[in-house]
Amino acid sequence: MRVIKSDQITIRNLLLRHVDDVLAIERSCFSDPWQEDWFTAMIRTNVLTWGCFIGGKLIGYLMAIPSGESIHLANIAIDYPYRRKGIARKMMKRLYNYAHRNVCCSITLEVRESNSSAIDFYTAEGFVKVGVHKGYYMGVEDALQFNLDLSWS
Ligand SMILES: CC(C)(COP(=O)(O)OP(=O)(O)OC[C@H]1O[C@@H](n2cnc3c(N)ncnc32)[C@H](O)[C@@H]1OP(=O)(O)O)[C@@H](O)C(=O)NCCC(=O)NCCS
Repeated sequence: MRVIKSDQITIRNLLLRHVDDVLAIERSCFSDPWQEDWFTAMIRTNVLTWGCFIGGKLIGYLMAIPSGESIHLANIAIDYPYRRKGIARKMMKRLYNYAHRNVCCSITLEVRESNSSAIDFYTAEGFVKVGVHKGYYMGVEDALQFNLDLSWS
C-alpha cells in the first residue's frame, strides 16, 4: 500500500485550467457525472472549489456552497487509487476550519442511498441522517439527506 505523507499534499483553489482533470475524476466516480459547464460555473462564482494535489497532480476535489449559517456540500470525490488514505477527511477538516472562521453552524448534503462508501465516510465524520428526498436522482433513486451540526462552544 502506497503511503502518502501529509506534507506531500496541498489543498488549493481550483482554477479553470483544472477542469479537465476534475472531469476525469468525476466521470470515473459517478454514473451521472456533473457536466463541464457546472464545474466552470462553480469555479467562476463565489463558492468553495478546492482541489487536493500531490505536486501538480489533482487527486480529489470538494465543492461547497456557503449560505448564511449553513454550508451545502455539493460534491466531494477522491481519485480511486488515493482512497482510504485520509484525503477526504483532510479536505473536510479544511471545510470545518472555513465554517469555524465564518461562524457557520451546520453542513448539509445529499447522497444516493446506494452509495455505501460515501455514507460510511459521512457517518465516520459525524454526519447524521435527517431525511429522505424521494426520487431525487432522476426519479429513480432516493437521496439521503445528512447534516453535521457544528458546535463551536
Ligand atoms: C467517499 C469518498 C470521498 C471518501 O474519500 P476517502 O479519501 O477514501 O476517505 P478517507 O480515507 O478520508 O476516509 C475517512 C474515513 O471514512 C470512512 N470510509 C471512507 N471510505 C469508506 C469505505 N469505502 N468503506 C467504509 N468506510 C469508509 C472510514 O471510517 C475512513 O477511515 P479509515 O480509513 O481510517 O477506516 C471516496 O470514497 C470517493 O471519492 N467516492 C466516490 C465519489 C463519491 O461517492 N462522493 C460522495 C458523493 S455524495
